Amino acid sequence: MEKKITVLPGDGIGPEVIASAVRVLQVIGKRFNHTFHLGYAAIGGAAIDQYNNPLPNETIHMCEESDAVLLGAVGGPKWDNNPTHLRPEKGLLQIRKHFDLFANLRPVKAFPSLLASSPLKREVAENVDLMIVRELTGGIYFGEPRKKTADAAVDTCVYSREEIERIVDNAFELARLRRGKLCSVDKANVLDTSRLWREIVEEKKKSYPDVQVEHNLVDSVAMKLITNPCHYDVVVTENMFGDILSDEASVITGSLGVLPSASIRGDNFGLYEPVHGSAPEIAGQGIANPAATILSVAMMLQYSFGLKEEAAEIERAVSAVFDDGYFTADLAQDGTRVLSTDEWTDKVINEI
Ligand code: NAI
Ligand code: MG
Repeated sequence: MEKKITVLPGDGIGPEVIASAVRVLQVIGKRFNHTFHLGYAAIGGAAIDQYNNPLPNETIHMCEESDAVLLGAVGGPKWDNNPTHLRPEKGLLQIRKHFDLFANLRPVKAFPSLLASSPLKREVAENVDLMIVRELTGGIYFGEPRKKTADAAVDTCVYSREEIERIVDNAFELARLRRGKLCSVDKANVLDTSRLWREIVEEKKKSYPDVQVEHNLVDSVAMKLITNPCHYDVVVTENMFGDILSDEASVITGSLGVLPSASIRGDNFGLYEPVHGSAPEIAGQGIANPAATILSVAMMLQYSFGLKEEAAEIERAVSAVFDDGYFTADLAQDGTRVLSTDEWTDKVINEI
């Protein structure tokens, strides 16, 4: 297989974790006989410094010519006082919107060797394997009108049938490929957007008789995600609920440094990035944990290229290196060996 990938290292630890992930990608290419053509472009702070624009046209153009995009992270104090249109995060929002990446997938899976870092009891966290599917381009973050005066403010939550149908279809398809369970999260006891959401899930479930569906209110899911996370397989929800629940779910397994994500739109194109940010305070020291970005490459192989075996091999290798007791500094426990970003990546590559 031959694929074109645009790589956007970003700033902070972005370039360091991206370098590791690209090495792993190339080794997978060699072992399984695929050619990955990589093109590098700027986004975020790096793009502001170079082009005075967090998402230059050259970058958009290169992504448009690619089969998938791999992103590091953006943001940092250096740009905090810039006007909104010249902030690194603006580049992220723009690229998601430009490519209509309406589905944000965040898997949360326990690595047995990392459970000591989880705030939950081992028996609660140990078999967690869930996927949050968050609608990413609609809802209250984008709805009009919005307005603020000194005395009152308005935000508007809008969802069209089409916007709900496409994310719900996506979640059903994913559930079908996993354990066949879908939890749809809403606030249908209060919100009309949620009532429409629930109706559409009910309509759609007729087309997926192999998937078991439940509806749950968001406040109750916020509680059950922590008390009984193993209950969940695929969880689908609207933008703001998904924003909150996915951060909540991210702590279950113990570390931000191991969580990947995908933003997709229903064809094969997608944007893959770690859940964590640019960690500016540890940038340039060679100590960042590259696991989340390496696992984001695995998601790219699976969701954009259909390479399931290759994706599983990356996940197996990462897990095996943890099981051997090798960690980066953020995960260090008593009696474990602390490796640099590059050394830890070497272990994963040897494993593959
Ligand atoms: P952060 O995720 O960068 O860092 C949170 C904490 O986790 C820090 O202590 C950091 O050192 C640690 N950490 C994160 N990733 C790590 C890794 N791979 N290895 C080892 N330690 C790691 O979040 P924070 O500090 O809130 O934000 C820093 C900057 O990143 C801000 O400018 C923020 O806007 C931006 N950000 C960017 C995101 C993105 O590019 N998608 C997402 C979240 C934040
Ligand atoms: Mg958030």
